[in-house]
Amino acid sequence: MGSTLILAVAFLAIAAWFAWRYYRLRRRVDEFANQIRRQEFETKTKELENLSTALTSLISTFDVRLSTLSSERSRLANLLEQLTDGVLIADAQGIIQFANPAAGRLFQNSQPVNRSIAEVIRHHQLVEAWRRCQQTRQMQSETVEVPTHHQYLQLVVAPDQQSSGTLLLVQDLTRIRRLETVRRDFISNLSHELRTPLASLKALTETLQDGALEDPPAARRFIDQIQTEVDALTQMATELLELSRIESGRLSLDLQPIPPAELLTSACERMQLQAERAGLSLRVECAETLPKVRMDLQRMEQVLVNLIHNAVKYTKPGGEVILFAEAGPGEVRFAVRDTGIGIPAEDVPRIFERFYRVEKSRAGSGTGLGLSIAKHIVETHKGKIWAESVEGQGSTFYFTIPTA
Ligand SMILES: Nc1ncnc2c1ncn2[C@@H]1O[C@H](COP(=O)(O)OP(=O)(O)O)[C@@H](O)[C@H]1O
Ligand SMILES: [Mg+2]
Repeated sequence: MGSTLILAVAFLAIAAWFAWRYYRLRRRVDEFANQIRRQEFETKTKELENLSTALTSLISTFDVRLSTLSSERSRLANLLEQLTDGVLIADAQGIIQFANPAAGRLFQNSQPVNRSIAEVIRHHQLVEAWRRCQQTRQMQSETVEVPTHHQYLQLVVAPDQQSSGTLLLVQDLTRIRRLETVRRDFISNLSHELRTPLASLKALTETLQDGALEDPPAARRFIDQIQTEVDALTQMATELLELSRIESGRLSLDLQPIPPAELLTSACERMQLQAERAGLSLRVECAETLPKVRMDLQRMEQVLVNLIHNAVKYTKPGGEVILFAEAGPGEVRFAVRDTGIGIPAEDVPRIFERFYRVEKSRAGSGTGLGLSIAKHIVETHKGKIWAESVEGQGSTFYFTIPTA
C-alpha cells in the first residue's frame, strides 16, 4: 500500500515535470515562430520599399521623356502650322492623312484630310508627279501654273520612310515668278526707252546736217529737241545708277544741317532750263526762316530732280511747277506741285513701286524707277513721301524730313 502510494507520487512528479518541460518547449517554439514571422515581415517590407523606390524613379524618368516628347511634338506642330509652304502626308492609296494650314490655303481646300490627292490638288501634272513617286519610290518634283488662281506652284513628292505613302511639299512661287516677269519686262522696256530717244537724236542731227543748219530758227528748234532727248537719257542713266547703288546697299548719307530754301533753290536752278524748254514755269515759294533740316544735300537734290523731272514730263506746255516747303512738328514738309495730266486714283498707291508706270503709252519715256528711288532716299532720311492728285488738274508730291 505504502509502496503504491510512493509509486503514485513519483509518477505524478514525473508527469508534472514532463508537463512543465512541454510547456516551456511550446513557449520557446511559439516565441521562435513569432521571431521568424517578424523578421520575414521586415525583409518583405524592405523589398517592397525598394520596389516602390524603383517604380517611382522609373515613373519620373518616363514623365521627363514624355514631356520632352510632347514639347517636341508641339514644337513640330507649331512649325507645320506656321510654315508658309504646304505639307501633306498621303497613304499608299493617295488618301491625305495630314495637311498643314498652308496646304489648305494653297489648294483652296479647308478640309483636305481624308480626301484623295486628285480631289485636293486638282492639277493633272501634280497628280502625275505623286503617282510616279508612289510607283517608283523616288523623289519627284513638278512646277505648274494654275491660271484660274494666278498661281505658280512647285510640288516636291518624296516617299514616306515610315509608311508606304508619300510626303508632299508645296511651294508658292507666284511672287518670285512675278518679280522675274517684272525684271524681264523692265529690260525689254528699257531697251525700247533707250532706242526711242536715240532714234530721234539720230533723225534730228541728220536733218541738221541735211541743210536745216542754214535755217537758224528751225535749227534752234531742233537743237532744243536734241537737248530734251539728252535730258531724258541723262535722267534714265542717273536712275539706273542710283538703283544699282541702292541695290548694292552703298547708299551712305553725308548728313548736314541745310536750310530748306537752299535745297529748293539749287534743285530749281538745275531743272530751270528743262522746264523752259518744255514751255513751263518753274519757281520756288519758300520762307527763308524755316528751321534747318539734316540731310545729304546731293541725295535730296536727286529726290527733287526726280519729282521735278516727272512734273515737267507730265505737264503740258503753258503749265507751272511750284516747289514749296513749310514747317511742321519736328519736321519740314516739302512739295512739288504741277498743273499736269494728274494720276488716276487707282494708280496713286502704286506709283512708288519699283518699275511701276501708269499706262505706258500716256507720256514720255521713263524707267518707272524715279519715284521708288525718291522714296528710298526720303525713307533713309527717316522721312515720308506721298502724292495727291486729281486727274486732268495736276499732282502734288509731298515729302517730310526731320528738322536738325
Ligand atoms: N507729276 C506727275 N504727274 C502725273 N503722273 C506722274 C507724275 N509723277 C509720276 N507720275 C506717274 O507715276 C509713274 C511713276 O513715276 P516714276 O517712278 O518717276 O517713273 P517714270 O517717270 O520713269 O515713268 C509715272 O510713270 C507716271 O505715270
Ligand atoms: Mg520719273
